Amino acid sequence: MSKDILSAASVTKNLGVRLIGRRVIYYPSVTSTNELAKQEARKGAVEGTVVIAGEQTVGKGRLSRNWLTPKGNIALSIILYPDLTHLHFLIMVASLAVVHSIEAVSNLKPEIKWPNDVLINGRKVCGILIESDVQGNRVNYAVIGIGINANLRLADFPELQPIATSLSDELGREVSRLNLVRRLLVEMDRLYSDLQAGKSPYDEWRDRLVTLGKRVRVKAGETVYEGIAESVAEDGSLMLRDAKSSLIKILAGDVTLRE
Ligand code: BTN
Repeated sequence: MSKDILSAASVTKNLGVRLIGRRVIYYPSVTSTNELAKQEARKGAVEGTVVIAGEQTVGKGRLSRNWLTPKGNIALSIILYPDLTHLHFLIMVASLAVVHSIEAVSNLKPEIKWPNDVLINGRKVCGILIESDVQGNRVNYAVIGIGINANLRLADFPELQPIATSLSDELGREVSRLNLVRRLLVEMDRLYSDLQAGKSPYDEWRDRLVTLGKRVRVKAGETVYEGIAESVAEDGSLMLRDAKSSLIKILAGDVTLRE
């Protein structure tokens, strides 16, 4: 198990960020950092507040799945108050920040699977769950939840082995959660500042997607689509060319890459 000390003080010390990570709340154990972050957001927490946990007991994944965060891994949630026009870019900002931060602390080559899973050697190392509260044109809050399998021993979770990996399993050594979390917050802060200054993350996110050009199966609600993932639209939707050559726009879904 990772022995580095994760605390609000160790994460924030000389971090040099503008917004994201200027306030950190650390809990050794929580149900779900997204749930706590939403409570903080409703109480008006300062923008960029980050809730970090040493472990999660009821971690939440996309599409009502569970997310496993035993000790030694990373679970954090970032509170933002973005413009409505920026909301769909948060997926891109978050997945790019994860990719950059993994690259900064290792020689691994992470890839993004649409819309925002981060994979290493074809298996998932990070999941992102964005929850927002929107009323009319106003975003009351957006919470970006990021879970990274930093030091997960997949040998202990055989059912996950075909689909998941961890940084420590890939590297054959433990990774410092502290270094990775700090770098992740710096990358998030930079990309979010760029977004606020009018620089879209779209081009870089599109170029880093492993999904494009591949034959895929996409589950969107109760509907399953199959075809070639042709492109992504600027709003983040996947453009899928099906067997009848129709181009289908899919806003959100779960992709399986086919050979
Ligand atoms: C997915 O299904 O891929 C998304 C997983 C998101 C997990 C993170 S861990 C931190 C935050 N708190 C949660 O309960 N979920 C997100």
